[in-house]
Amino acid sequence: MRIRPIHSVSRWALASVGVLLLAGTSGCRQDMQNQPKFVPQRGTTFFPSGRSVRPEVLHAVARNQMDANEYFSTGLIDNKEQEKLPFPLTMTVLLRGQERYNIYCTPCHSRVGNGKGMIVERGYKPAGNFHETRILEKPLSHYFWVMTHGYGSMPDYAAQITSQDRWAIAAYIRALQLSQNAPLKDVPANVSVQKLSEISEQAGYAPSFAEAWTIPQQTDVPSAGEMKPEASTSKSAQSTSKSAESSSKNPEAKAAPAKTAPAAAVSQGKKSQGKKQP
Ligand code: HEC
Repeated sequence: MRIRPIHSVSRWALASVGVLLLAGTSGCRQDMQNQPKFVPQRGTTFFPSGRSVRPEVLHAVARNQMDANEYFSTGLIDNKEQEKLPFPLTMTVLLRGQERYNIYCTPCHSRVGNGKGMIVERGYKPAGNFHETRILEKPLSHYFWVMTHGYGSMPDYAAQITSQDRWAIAAYIRALQLSQNAPLKDVPANVSVQKLSEISEQAGYAPSFAEAWTIPQQTDVPSAGEMKPEASTSKSAQSTSKSAESSSKNPEAKAAPAKTAPAAAVSQGKKSQGKKQP
């Protein structure tokens, strides 16, 4: 009689263990719930020091630890803009500035900096013309400041362009300004001055290539509706044959060089406005 209850209890226990096991397997979580992790301030045997919190790497500087009062990061000394770069000007800096400028600023300011970029031509608020007296006379760090904080309807570029590169662009703006306002006396004695029209002829373009370009009228631009079928056919061409894709791309690639204007030569004393981008 005493055995019976034990039997029934153990059977009951077995059954419940079984149920628990089942529940256990069905609820088994393979996600990050079960990751090996360090809980703050709790030790570990993994590192010889027994600390789960790792010491800082020597000389590491966190993003928000930079000196916010430095000229390099503010462009201001005593709250005033200055005409100086916080590091030496080299050709490498200028070329980097040119590259970044062409990426980030030309859509609105154009390659020559006259404020007639593609987006402005298509209706955006007129962007600054770097060759107009008011902006010409601004100290160098004003350009850095504008890129860092934005200006009127111009957004800021602090997130996209590092401080170092913003300074490089500012320096390049000065080079652009010089390129559009250089008097003849700035030309070194051993360099001959050539007309832009001559340069474009030598490069195989019509002399008119050097003149101001006009962008197509709105009527010349295909509407969104017209463009759709073309986009879908080029997609299907892409999936069916690679050569079809490359041939559809080629005309564009051939047309591309024609879009690049020859570098502005020395403007012969007269104030030359940069040509419009196509
Ligand atoms: C989306 C268009 C756009 C882009 C891209 C853009 N800007 Fe501008 N920028 C403007 C507009 C618009 C103004 C005029 C703002 C105003 O007067 O309200 C302006 C004005 C300026 C000015 C003149 C500020 C003054 O004192 O009047 C400078 C300098 C300038 N931009 C530099 C740059 C640089 C450098 C870049 C590239 C990093 C850049 N901008 C990219 C639209 C743009």
